[in-house]
Amino acid sequence: MDWTNNKYLTDDLLTIPKPELGTILVTGATGYVGGRLVPELLHRGYRVRVMTRVPVEDFDEQWPGVETVVADALAEEQLKAALQGVHTAYYLIHALLLGEKKFEAVDVQAAINFRKVAEASGVQRIIYLGGLGDVNAPLSPHLRSRLQVAKELQKGKIKTTVLRAAIIIGSGSASYEIIKNLVKRSPVFFMPYWARTKCQPISIRNLINTLIGCLETEETAGKSYDIGGTEILTYEEMIRILSELQNKRKFFFHTSFSNINLYAYVASLLTPVPAAIIRSLMASTVNEVICKSKDKLPDTLYRPISYKEALLRAMTREEQDDVRSRWSDQYPRAHELAIKLRELEKPPFYISSYHLLSEKSEEALFASFSKIGGEDGWFYSNWMWRARGMVDRIIFGVGDARGRRSRTSLRVNDVVGFWRVEGRRQNSHLLLRAEMKLPGMAWLEFSLHKIGEMNRLTVTAYFEPQGIPGKIYWYNFLPFHYFIFTNLIKQIDRRA
Ligand SMILES: NC(=O)c1ccc[n+]([C@@H]2O[C@H](COP(=O)([O-])OP(=O)(O)OC[C@H]3O[C@@H](n4cnc5c(N)ncnc54)[C@H](OP(=O)(O)O)[C@@H]3O)[C@@H](O)[C@H]2O)c1
Repeated sequence: MDWTNNKYLTDDLLTIPKPELGTILVTGATGYVGGRLVPELLHRGYRVRVMTRVPVEDFDEQWPGVETVVADALAEEQLKAALQGVHTAYYLIHALLLGEKKFEAVDVQAAINFRKVAEASGVQRIIYLGGLGDVNAPLSPHLRSRLQVAKELQKGKIKTTVLRAAIIIGSGSASYEIIKNLVKRSPVFFMPYWARTKCQPISIRNLINTLIGCLETEETAGKSYDIGGTEILTYEEMIRILSELQNKRKFFFHTSFSNINLYAYVASLLTPVPAAIIRSLMASTVNEVICKSKDKLPDTLYRPISYKEALLRAMTREEQDDVRSRWSDQYPRAHELAIKLRELEKPPFYISSYHLLSEKSEEALFASFSKIGGEDGWFYSNWMWRARGMVDRIIFGVGDARGRRSRTSLRVNDVVGFWRVEGRRQNSHLLLRAEMKLPGMAWLEFSLHKIGEMNRLTVTAYFEPQGIPGKIYWYNFLPFHYFIFTNLIKQIDRRA
């Protein structure tokens, strides 16, 4: 079968869709797994409701027909509206970005609230995706929290299917992007003892098929399954396999130095994934994560593929510029505090604007600035943007290396280096909000206005300073603004 042409991951799933079940709720829809699950459910004819903590403007455009509800799992009242009339709820909530000190307690509380309200609302099934790990071993906080959530959800009367997976290999997954970028950037690997821990990675394809196959297979209700690919590998073997696949010669040294904080920090400088996420993932490498459950899933929904095939599929999706969700889709830690530009009581104090009249069409100009921050970087003075990004990464910010989900297209909420798309109107407007460490809030806007036969292209930087450091920051960067933005705007026009 030529899988490179398969548009949907579930195209060869053998179970039969059951749209008659009614409303299916997907929580964690802004997350990596949720972002893949929703289009597949819609494709199979389900009535899908997605729950997000903040309204996401372009879900309607991205997933036509989806119903959206805004609710925080920590607020029981909000959950009532989300769970009203739901047949099955996918539980994909995880607060990893809150950091190790906070996420365990928050994740458990969210699960308790969810179970209570789901029971009161008459929900029939819950399908939860958690993490693998030996229940009798001392586990990392990340894996422990996944188990605690499973236990909380199973305590109630609702039949809960628990799926337990190790790392996911797929385009846009954090684990894949970490391995890929380490192989791309580092000629030498110093391997600590935990790089030889055993793991059973799963492809995103197997994972999504299993999540939907369980919905379509009644006998899986109330059961718990460990799911993984065909091989058990060490993390070192995973790096070696990808290096071989890409014909890259690497040098491996075993070392007794094993400090996870330092490894995570160095890896964060070489990959798009911030240190906090890498640290949580690396902390779990001390535990073996391999499938051991006695319950076996029916073949109709579980035909595992190898690690190598999962890598090839991920690389193909990237080549086809068809990455549908990415680890960076989830908001960073401070997102609850992130105020949108139009939500400010009055316009930001500091604004600088640059214009250019162009003969090019709005389609061409829009396509041109929509490629910003991708492979061609920032079109002008790339080294300055990269240096700013590197400084941000060094001081534990998100940095510029996060890149983008797609080379050519942008959606609201997509990451573009150290920015995130806050607003977008086709052929007219793109608004980016800064997520780097700043003494204030900043936005960068690209807009187009018709003037006779010509188009006026405007780039505007907005900055709302925080105290004196914010003001100093703005005035320090002002001379660079003129230089950067006048050239940037010319480049947008030239590339259109
Ligand atoms: N990704 C993997 O490699 C992997 C591997 C094995 C198992 N899993 C499991 O799969 C599940 C989903 O993982 P993922 O990678 O898709 O997670 P993710 O990308 O980190 O997304 C987590 C989601 O949870 C939402 N969330 C956090 N706190 C919330 C709250 N209080 N109320 C409502 N929503 C909240 C987030 O919404 P906001 O955008 O509002 O923050 C986000 O949509 C997790 O249980 C994870 O352990 C993942």
